[in-house]
Formats: sequence, structure tokens, C-alpha cells
Amino acid sequence: MSQLQIAIDGPAGSGKSTVAKAVAQLLNITYLDTGAMYRAVTYAAMKANLSFDDETALKTLVDDIQLDISPKSIQLNGEDVTEAIRTPEVTRCVSDVSKVGYVREKMVILQREIALNQPVIMDGRDIGTVVLPQATYKFFLIADPVERAKRRMLELESKGFEASLEVITEEIITRDKIDSEREISPLMRAADAIEIDTTHLSIDDVIRKIISLVKVEK
Ligand code: CDP
Repeated sequence: MSQLQIAIDGPAGSGKSTVAKAVAQLLNITYLDTGAMYRAVTYAAMKANLSFDDETALKTLVDDIQLDISPKSIQLNGEDVTEAIRTPEVTRCVSDVSKVGYVREKMVILQREIALNQPVIMDGRDIGTVVLPQATYKFFLIADPVERAKRRMLELESKGFEASLEVITEEIITRDKIDSEREISPLMRAADAIEIDTTHLSIDDVIRKIISLVKVEK
């Protein structure tokens, strides 16, 4: 029997991570936040003062990196970066790092390895299209940009960051644009993905909807 694979893609703030985490718990399967991997690489590049245009330097960085991802924490070369990868500074730079081909190649290899031997739910931008094109279920979450910015603002405020709705809306739109227009594996709905507009749905509504569609073989 092939492994259960659930792909959840969509733009920033569409609710992917929260929903994927909850579905993983309900189904007792592994959750992988692929965005956290790109964030960790971005954090490492920022720390090393690399220019994001310098593909050779990024290649060396990615080749030497040790990433350990568990549902609770992300370790980068032995350092716990779980919180550090979520700062507004990293968020602002992550799309520029994740459009680099070699960075993507490396991350996709790691992601596929994780999906090989265990049932998984992964969230990201290219899971249904590139990482797991044969996924058992594919979902594409969307929501109005202002609603997405409101969600992100609440999240940032809860972590003690100051945030303005206008600035966050702008940043979300910019990130969506870079993610959707990049050459390699852009943010895109897979032809066979089920689209869910979460603008007027609660997190619980979305979780219920996904669970109702997923049949788990015992
Ligand atoms: O949580 P949020 O929606 O802010 O973003 P994320 O899932 O943490 O992803 C951060 C960034 O990583 C995205 O804006 C993309 O540039 C990149 N990413 C990607 O290129 N491919 C993925 N599979 C996941 C994330």
C-alpha cells in the first residue's frame, strides 16, 4: 500500500500551517512545514551576510547546512532557530532566497526523503506540483489578501512585534508576487488540487472540510 501523502499549498497567511498541523495530529501523521526550511536557509544566509544574488555562496551555504526539523523545533547547525526564523526580517527576505534553483533542489530532496517512509502532510508552495506530484490528496488554500494580512498581524502582535496592516498587506502582496512569478516551481495550484477559499471560514471549518475529504486506510 502506498503511503498517505497530503499536500497543502497556498499563499502567505492562507492558514496552511495551522490547518496542516491540526490535521496531522488528528490523523496521527507527520507534519512538515517546508516554509520553515526556506526560512532557516534565509536566516543562515542573513547571519553569514550573504548577498541573495550570490548563487555560488548560497550553494556552498546550503551544501554545508545541517537542518533538523521536528514538529516542535527547527535546529540549524545545532542552533535552535524555531523563533528566529519567524521574525519580520526573515519574512521579508525569504522569497528572494527561495527562488534560487540550487536552494530549491536541496530542499526538495530533503522533503521527499521525509515523505518516503511515513505518511505525511506537507505545506508549502510547490508540494502538489513538484515535491509530491503523486500526493494522495492535494489542497490549495486561498484567501483575500487583506484577510490574510489581518491574520498575520494578530500572529505577529501575539509574539510582541509591532505591525501595521498596510505594511503587512504590502509585504504579503510582494511575497505572493515573487513566489508566483519565479521561474522554478512557482506558487501554483496543481490541476488536481481542491481549492478552499478560507476568507470567511474559521480554522476549524477548514480542518473539518479537509478531514471529511480524506479517507485514511486502516
Ligand atoms: O507561513 P507563511 O505563509 O508566511 O510562509 P511560509 O510557508 O513560512 O514560507 C515562507 C516562504 O518560503 C514563502 O514565501 C516562499 O518564498 C518560500 N517557500 C517556497 O518557496 N516553497 C515552499 N514549499 C515553501 C515556502
